[in-house]
Amino acid sequence: MDTKKVYNENAGKWLRFAPDSLSDFTARPFVFDACGDLNGRAVLDIGCGEGYCARELKRRGAGDYLGIDLSTEMISAAKSQEANDRFGIEYRACNVMEFVPDRQFDLCVAVFLFNYLGTEEMQQVFSMVRNALHPNGEFIFSVPHPLFPFVRPEQAAPFYFASNGKNYFDAVNQELEGEIWKRSGEPLHVQCVHKTFGDYFDALRSAGFTGMPEVQELTVTPELATIDEAFFSPLLNIPLHVLFKVGK
Ligand SMILES: C[S@@+](CC[C@H](N)C(=O)[O-])C[C@H]1O[C@@H](n2cnc3c(N)ncnc32)[C@H](O)[C@@H]1O
Repeated sequence: MDTKKVYNENAGKWLRFAPDSLSDFTARPFVFDACGDLNGRAVLDIGCGEGYCARELKRRGAGDYLGIDLSTEMISAAKSQEANDRFGIEYRACNVMEFVPDRQFDLCVAVFLFNYLGTEEMQQVFSMVRNALHPNGEFIFSVPHPLFPFVRPEQAAPFYFASNGKNYFDAVNQELEGEIWKRSGEPLHVQCVHKTFGDYFDALRSAGFTGMPEVQELTVTPELATIDEAFFSPLLNIPLHVLFKVGK
C-alpha cells in the first residue's frame, strides 16, 4: 500500500472535530488521559494526521507543539484548521523516517503510526524519539493489539484487519489491510504491518528505553456498548489496541 497516497486521497474523511471513528472512543481518550497534566510541556506528535490529537492535547495545556505527517493533504487540512483555531501548533509534512528533530520535547505521542512501519523502521523511530526527549521525557504510543487480526478474523464492521489465514508469528512485517468505521457509518481504510508483543519490547530496549513500559490493552467496555449497542457490541471484550507509555 502507498500510505502517502491513501492518506492524501482520504484526508477529508479523516478530518473531525468530535469523536467519530471507533478508536476515537476505544483508544484516543486513553492516550489523552495517559498524557496527564500537560501544563506547558513540549510535545512532538509523529504521524499527527489532520491534527485531531494535537488540538485535544493543546486544549489540555500542551506548550510547544510540533506535528509531523507523511501526507501533505493531512498536513494541509491540519494547517487550515490551525488558521481558524490559532492553537499555536506547528505542522510539517515529513516522513518520520527522514525527520531530524531541531529541538527537544517533554513528550512524544504516536497515535496509530507504527502500524504503517516494519520492525526495523519502528526501531529507528524509537531511537530518534529517545534522542529527541528531554531527560525526564515520556513516549506514549498506541497501536493495533497484536492479537486483534487473529482473534477476530471476520472482515466486518466496525473494525478488522484481514489476516487471511496467516498466523501470529509468520505474519510479522506483513501488511494486513483493514477498515475502521465511523459511527456515522463510513469506513476508513487502515493498515497494520503486523508485529508481535515481543517486537515492541525488543525495539524499545534496542532504542535504549530500559525502564518497564506501562501497557494498557484496550477494548470495547460494557459502558461503551450502552452508548451505541449496534456499533460497539460486535467488539465487546475483543483486544483492539495497545497503549505503551515509557519514560526516557
Ligand atoms: C491512522 S492515521 C492517525 C492520525 C492521527 N495520529 C490520529 O490519531 O488521528 C495514521 C497517520 O500516520 C501517517 N503516517 C504513516 N506513515 C508515516 C510516515 N512514514 N511518516 C509520517 N507519518 C506517517 C499517515 O499519513 C496518517 O496520517
